[in-house]
Amino acid sequence: MDVTKIGVIGAGQMGNGIAHVMALAGYHVCLNDISEDVLSQALTRIDKNMMRQVKSGKIAQADKAAALARITTTLSIADIGQSDLVIEAATEDEPTKQVIFDALVPHIQDHTILTSNTSSISITRLASRTGRPEKFMGFHFMNPVPVMQLVELIRGIATDKETYDTCRAVVENLGKTPASAEDFPAFIVNRILMPMINEAVYTLYEGVGSVESIDQSMKLGANHPMGPLELADFIGLDTCLAIMNVLHDGLADTKYRPCPLMTKYVEAGWLGRKTKRGFYDYRGDVPVPTR
Ligand code: CAA
Repeated sequence: MDVTKIGVIGAGQMGNGIAHVMALAGYHVCLNDISEDVLSQALTRIDKNMMRQVKSGKIAQADKAAALARITTTLSIADIGQSDLVIEAATEDEPTKQVIFDALVPHIQDHTILTSNTSSISITRLASRTGRPEKFMGFHFMNPVPVMQLVELIRGIATDKETYDTCRAVVENLGKTPASAEDFPAFIVNRILMPMINEAVYTLYEGVGSVESIDQSMKLGANHPMGPLELADFIGLDTCLAIMNVLHDGLADTKYRPCPLMTKYVEAGWLGRKTKRGFYDYRGDVPVPTR
């Protein structure tokens, strides 16, 4: 199936990155959110991130201008119905995603493929409410989307071959690498990554190491580009906690118990970089540990 128009729902951290890479690859993107402010911040962020790519010679100024011209924004979910492929990238919360798909489905065309950028939630369950589970699948980008090479593709139990092949072709067209994952809680990347982050939080909680020593150990001792606590702040502690809860509930194994300290940070509204405080405080020039 030919894809030219892509609808992206949610203009936050992941949604703006997805719009960015899709527009650069030549797709017409319609970006939807519930607030004009969020949409205009997303366009500013895309402009800034494309400028980084211009400065480092990865794209030309003309590519940037052409890509930005391919992005439109809308507050109306009905406008997203015109897309060939929809990628939902709203908050990692199942009821929120269900409300979005319930509102969207009456507006889509027969051929429209629906996908979710969920990092952990059951694709089969999200698909089952749309009345067209064969044209539904998981399309999971990594953060920061313009930089990270992998996209996980997750088939629900009913996803048909044409839907999968179409999404795979889109990933290849972006110059990214697809990885197929089965539809089990948190798929591949987060099934492995989140327990590591959660364990890092336990390591802090139990006083085995400080924020700095934990991050430094994993950067220098395991060659990770970011320490696990720095990475948790980057992803968002609310997202990390939501994924741990999906693993804990979905696999019913105590090894996935979210660390109480992670819950406490989320309850405090210290969600990481996006709220300027998490395991680090980002309000000054240089991030400093908050404990
Ligand atoms: N848009 C465009 N370019 C960007 C960018 C963005 N948002 N963020 C970084 N870049 C570019 C920079 O411009 C720079 O480009 P050049 O090399 O061409 O100059 C390059 O990426 C490296 O960036 P920096 O020099 O600023 O910093 P860095 O070397 O420390 O790298 C990083 C930053 C790429 C984020 C690196 O620290 C990293 O890879 N961290 C780990 C990220 C990770 O693990 N992501 C997965 C999270 S899990 C997930 O996303 C799944 C989920 O569902 C939760």
